[in-house]
Amino acid sequence: MKKILITGSSGLIGKLIYNNLKSKYSFIGLDKYDTSENNGLKTHLIKSNQIECFSKSLKGIDTVIHLAASISTSSEWNEVLYNNIELTKNIYEASRLNKVSRIIFASSNHAVGNFEIDEPYRSIVKGKYEGIDPKKIKKINHNVSIRPDSYYGISKAFGESTARYYYEHHNIESVCLRIGTVNKENSPLSDIRYFATLLYHEDLIQLIEKSISQENIGFKIFYGVSNNKWNFWDISYSEKILGYKPKRNTENER
Ligand SMILES: NC(=O)c1ccc[n+]([C@@H]2O[C@H](COP(=O)([O-])OP(=O)(O)OC[C@H]3O[C@@H](n4cnc5c(N)ncnc54)[C@H](O)[C@@H]3O)[C@@H](O)[C@H]2O)c1
Repeated sequence: MKKILITGSSGLIGKLIYNNLKSKYSFIGLDKYDTSENNGLKTHLIKSNQIECFSKSLKGIDTVIHLAASISTSSEWNEVLYNNIELTKNIYEASRLNKVSRIIFASSNHAVGNFEIDEPYRSIVKGKYEGIDPKKIKKINHNVSIRPDSYYGISKAFGESTARYYYEHHNIESVCLRIGTVNKENSPLSDIRYFATLLYHEDLIQLIEKSISQENIGFKIFYGVSNNKWNFWDISYSEKILGYKPKRNTENER
């Protein structure tokens, strides 16, 4: 059984991964705080973002799912610097020291979020669909230049660069998932933008599982979004490389 460390394991996505995949993998958690909702997950609590605080947790680990971060686009620079930038670099460095072979990095659509100031994305996220044919939307793919929309977006672009560096210099494989929206309700109804951006829990779990199990992945960036009518991120690359087949479409909730 593969041994997997989940950083940020007490958060929304960490709990979803653990609770859905605990029969298939041997998980250990790492977070600032523990939660009773992670029934049975052994969680290492860390007080600082420094390597010596968590290096031991990485012993014997095959894969790290790195989720720990400040997650708001309005996060202040100091918070992002500490929780996202320094922590991510230190997780990669500790992984190198402990010979971890793969990291799944929770990147974000916000690394390219400023595309949403351009048409047709600008109208789509506002739910103004008039005159737009959803089948003809020019999809944003993994090769576009980064266009962060916030300090948070900058930190995710930094994480992707770090992932590439550690692959090309130290041979640690990375799957960077530019996740759309994952919410507790598992529904787009609270924000019109989510009709385009939602990644349903079922599709998230599929994407994570395929990112763990696909052999010889190297360094890759994929978008994490469901099969939504108004999706504007290109998932053909993850369909081709991972065999990702999102099952759900927000349109069915209108
Ligand atoms: N939920 C989404 O819609 C979404 C979209 C795109 C990307 N992501 C990314 O996915 C990851 C998980 O998101 P989530 O929705 O589960 O967020 P969350 O806030 O529910 O969980 C994040 C967890 O990280 C932990 N954490 C933060 N800083 C830490 C530190 N310095 N040391 C240890 N633990 C720390 C928090 O305690 C929390 O448990 C994040 O990296 C986020 O940026 C999420």
